[in-house]
Amino acid sequence: MNRNLVPFVLLFLVHLCSTYKPVVLIHGIMTGSGSMEMISRRIQEKHPGTKVYNVNRFESWSSLETMWHQVLEIGLDVANISSQHPDGINLIGYSQGGLVARGIVQTFANVSVSTFISLSSPQAGQYGAGFLHVIFPGLVKESAYELFYSRVGQHTSVGNYWKDPYHQTLYESYSVYLPYINNHIQSAKSEDFKNNLLRLKRLVLIGGPDDQVITPWQSSQFGYYDTNDTVVEMRDQDIYQTDRIGLRALDESGRLHVVTVPGVNHFNWHMNVSIVDDCLLPYLD
Ligand SMILES: *[C@@H]1O[C@H](CO)[C@@H](O)[C@H](O)[C@H]1NC(C)=O
Ligand SMILES: *[C@@H]1O[C@H](CO)[C@@H](O)[C@H](O)[C@H]1NC(C)=O
Ligand SMILES: *[C@@H]1O[C@H](CO)[C@@H](O)[C@H](O)[C@H]1NC(C)=O
Ligand SMILES: *[C@@H]1O[C@H](CO)[C@@H](O)[C@H](O)[C@H]1NC(C)=O
Repeated sequence: MNRNLVPFVLLFLVHLCSTYKPVVLIHGIMTGSGSMEMISRRIQEKHPGTKVYNVNRFESWSSLETMWHQVLEIGLDVANISSQHPDGINLIGYSQGGLVARGIVQTFANVSVSTFISLSSPQAGQYGAGFLHVIFPGLVKESAYELFYSRVGQHTSVGNYWKDPYHQTLYESYSVYLPYINNHIQSAKSEDFKNNLLRLKRLVLIGGPDDQVITPWQSSQFGYYDTNDTVVEMRDQDIYQTDRIGLRALDESGRLHVVTVPGVNHFNWHMNVSIVDDCLLPYLD
């Protein structure tokens, strides 16, 4: 064989033999697919041949549209992608995108996800107004429930996962998203929500104490405030103990990975190459 061709033939073989599943990326609030480009490039560099789909729906201000609307629209795209890859796909959602992604996993029986990675997402809710000032000027967490726990407030994504520990009854009466996908409120879909999550081969929950946006940061790993400001970690939460959505079963079968990384601000998770190398790539098959 012509020696000059050897590298090309090798490259071709690497592509041919690549067994990596395709990866779907879902961006966070007030950003778009561009913010996920670093992750996309790094995956393709380290796992050559991986097909990456970087979702570009609901970018910028439209990321404030309701969670169900985003889950159902993006979910149809993901179902279409999944149908083209019978061996399954991997799914990574950053920030709000990780909560959209979980909704998709739990809702779409025709989406076949092998590994789902939640990258600093408010999985158990959010009770902190920090960055929200940009979107809702003057908002403070103590009174934000007055806006979010109303018919109007539920027209925003943030309202759909706002969880004020001091106003649980209002949360239960108004919130149309989080209490449902958490099976905190039972519905006709509850069984599907759980069964679909249980189809995952791996659930990876990444978060850390220096996040400063996800509040409490443990929400990224299903920990949350009790009825006051005391944080109760996932394994002591009712959602886990009574196995409402399958977290416990995933854990007991070795499929749940809880990853805590200090020293990372919320706006750096998807910009930090060592996070991709150390926390994402090892779980992508
Ligand atoms: C499904 O994906 C294919 C290939 O990417 C595309 O051509 C088609 O329009 C998609 N269908 C729907 C319903 O989105
Ligand atoms: C997936 O299921 C949804 C209903 O849950 C359906 O609307 C959609 O067409 C399906 N997509 C594919 C690609 O099968
Ligand atoms: C918060 O509530 C928990 C029980 O729900 C209790 O053990 C703890 O003492 C309370 N902490 C404060 C500061 O009130
Ligand atoms: C990047 O991630 C590493 C952990 O993998 C962390 O120690 C470091 O502080 C992070 N850097 C930034 C700028 O977030």
